Amino acid sequence: MDHQRRHLLGVEGLAPPAISGFLDLAESYVLLNRSGQTQRDLLRGHTLINLFFEDSTRTRTSFELAGKRLGADVLNMSVATSSVNKGETLLDTAATLNAMQCDLLVVRHDQSGAPSLLAQKVDAAVINAGDGTHEHPTQALLDALTIRRRKGRLEGLTVAICGDILHSRVARSNLHLLTTMGSRVRVVGPPTLIPAEVARLGVTVFHDMAAGLAGADIVMMLRLQRERMTAGLVPSAREYFRFFGLDAAKLAHARPDALVMHPGPMNRGVEIDSAIADDPARSVIREQVEMGVAVRMAVLDTLARGGRNR
Ligand code: ASP
Ligand code: CP
Repeated sequence: MDHQRRHLLGVEGLAPPAISGFLDLAESYVLLNRSGQTQRDLLRGHTLINLFFEDSTRTRTSFELAGKRLGADVLNMSVATSSVNKGETLLDTAATLNAMQCDLLVVRHDQSGAPSLLAQKVDAAVINAGDGTHEHPTQALLDALTIRRRKGRLEGLTVAICGDILHSRVARSNLHLLTTMGSRVRVVGPPTLIPAEVARLGVTVFHDMAAGLAGADIVMMLRLQRERMTAGLVPSAREYFRFFGLDAAKLAHARPDALVMHPGPMNRGVEIDSAIADDPARSVIREQVEMGVAVRMAVLDTLARGGRNR
């Protein structure tokens, strides 16, 4: 099994059949989860370790739930109380976990490329749960599953990804996935938050919400990643909301059946108005969380079997 297939380090480079394979398998796990059943024999005897060097609510808990629903032994390593604080390096930490015969290592780190580095050093299959500003592959897969279930396809849809594109690994993974699957992708935000090279990825850039959302099927909002900002790239939160926050008036430019998405965590009143976030007719934000468990079950299932099908 080659390196690319044994781990899930990013969406970049995944071919359409591999993406569809994950989504198709995840569909079956949506049904299993909704029926209240589990498949605890599938990963019995496998050990999954969650190694999160950055905060998380959704990703860490859904990997834990996904592993448990498939019967794996799941450990959540608390980095905050670990020997990392005594100066142990990332690689030594990983080598230690590796020596405990870990099969699946789920890693979140603030340095882009950290999961890829670990994948070269450990026997476990490594899953990137978000690395710096680089990628968050399972987020893009769960977003794609949410869209595909609601709209019946990905191809030909117009998706507007709005806000802090510069610091967002969610945006990067989504750009790769959605362009690969034939969606028309737009990025919308202030010039300070859109990297210059993004246009080369086959997306259209907008600095105005009305133009960027015009006719969109999907409006995906992103949080301002202040923890990654080294300079004051945005004015006050209030002013940011006025120009780039999603409210009813701005959403009116999108298609009447446009869906509103957000990977979470949300900063209400900054990038999204509460009334929109909570509107069951438009927002699929909670559904994204549900899809996250199913997608992570599909990823664990696939990698535990030794790699992707294609
Ligand atoms: N939770 C996502 C991430 O970790 C998005 C965010 O934090 O805004 O990348
Ligand atoms: N969407 C996402 O990755 O959420 P968490 O940071 O809470 O895991």
